Amino acid sequence: MQFPDSLAPFGTVTMNADERYSRYQELQAYVGWSEGDAQRVRAVAALLEPALPPLIDDFYAEIERHPHALRVITGGRAQIDRLKGTLLNWVRELLSGPYDRGYVARRWQVGWRHVEIGLDQVFTNMALSRLRTGLVQALRQHWPSGPGDLFDTFRSLNKLLDLDLAIIEDAYQTEHLARQQRSERLVTIGQVAGGVAHELRNPLNVVKTAAYYLLNARQPNLEKTAEHLRRIEQNVALADGVITALSNFAKMPVPDLRPFSVERCVQEALASNDPGKNVAVALEFPPDLPPALGDADQVRIVFANLIRNARDAMAQGGQLAVRASRAEDGVEVVFQETGVGIPPEAVGQPLVLVVDDDPDLCANLWDLLRERGYRVCLAHDVETAAERLHADNRFAVILLDMKLPDGDGTEVFHQARQANPQTQVVVITGYQAELEQRVRQVLAEGARAVLHKPFNVPDLLRTVAGLTAPTQE
Ligand code: HEM
Repeated sequence: MQFPDSLAPFGTVTMNADERYSRYQELQAYVGWSEGDAQRVRAVAALLEPALPPLIDDFYAEIERHPHALRVITGGRAQIDRLKGTLLNWVRELLSGPYDRGYVARRWQVGWRHVEIGLDQVFTNMALSRLRTGLVQALRQHWPSGPGDLFDTFRSLNKLLDLDLAIIEDAYQTEHLARQQRSERLVTIGQVAGGVAHELRNPLNVVKTAAYYLLNARQPNLEKTAEHLRRIEQNVALADGVITALSNFAKMPVPDLRPFSVERCVQEALASNDPGKNVAVALEFPPDLPPALGDADQVRIVFANLIRNARDAMAQGGQLAVRASRAEDGVEVVFQETGVGIPPEAVGQPLVLVVDDDPDLCANLWDLLRERGYRVCLAHDVETAAERLHADNRFAVILLDMKLPDGDGTEVFHQARQANPQTQVVVITGYQAELEQRVRQVLAEGARAVLHKPFNVPDLLRTVAGLTAPTQE
């Protein structure tokens, strides 16, 4: 499986040495660093030399007084002795320069070393502050000439130390940014994984329920068997498509907007999605219909879904009309089907409403529930569910998916409650963190059960049977 980007290794250093040096030069200009400053600092290097060893001893003595700083020293006294040597060289180079590209690269590496060992940034700041105080004091102590020059030298030394502090801070900042990017990527991966889990659970659920039907159908016939096998095949392809889409995540298809013929697009969708043998199709396209602007490939997928929905809603046959007309800002296409009729022998049996946006799952549940004597109605979105509830308030059970294309199951739940408080609601949901809260809410408000996709068909049938007549199942 491929994720949006490969994960950058921890602490990726994105800026190169040249960029760092030009940044340093920019900062030099900011603090007004000049060759005069460099000369003043260089002039006191020899003067300060005897003061350096005690300063460095003090530097490490202070570290030893702070357990949070000390814990990064893992090599004990020997390491401290070695570090005193490296720090001495660091101070010597500070005072002598030259402040060139190599200088900046070396200083940045020293800063980065502290990031790597996990030293809290405040300690480098405090340690440098202590070093600064020590250098200023030593300078005052050993200063041989008049106070005017001393003040200028203080200023030069301070600028230099500020620039070095900026280099160390930059190393920390680099790590901070890398960490931020990494956590943003992790969030993205989490979202992608959640979406994929949901997208895969739907086709898996269809495969699982179809397989159950094939193994357990009470009145199997060739036609139904073929239908369920076809659904399995289609949904395996769908799951495969999800995985392909995931690997193409980085190159997410951007709609390719071009003028296209809506009529041809509908024809193509019909050609690859049989609306069912008892379904009469009527197409009404005015001859002067203008082309529409859109991504024909994506629109064809939408049309195909509408055709499949219509087919599933008309398992007993009916009429599908597709009409197009010129609209103010494009072309309007209307799909109309003649819904589901109830066979006379079914009247009086428990009525189950299945609300799920996956037409294949609906079709499977249709077969499974009808085989067990239920009357079944299907709705693929909140709006259709509301229409069904409005048309008939005698639903014994509603199997309710929480994630619907035009809203969430909570809305349907409340409408069902209003239509008939006796209606029992069973939530069916693919696990999604953001929906968990809503699932808990409808359970608290009286939903009877939750089935997680891909659910076991016997569990579902048992639940429905338990909520309807005790003689069912
Ligand atoms: C601004 C103040 C500091 C400066 C200028 C400084 C300077 C240095 C230098 C030059 C090195 C050698 C880097 C190398 O060879 O790669 C070093 C390493 C190290 N510093 Fe600092 N240091 C500072 C603050 C601190 C503080 C406050 C601690 C606290 C414990 C500390 C702990 C260490 C440790 C543990 C290493 C060793 C890493 C190793 O063994 O490879 N440093 N430091």
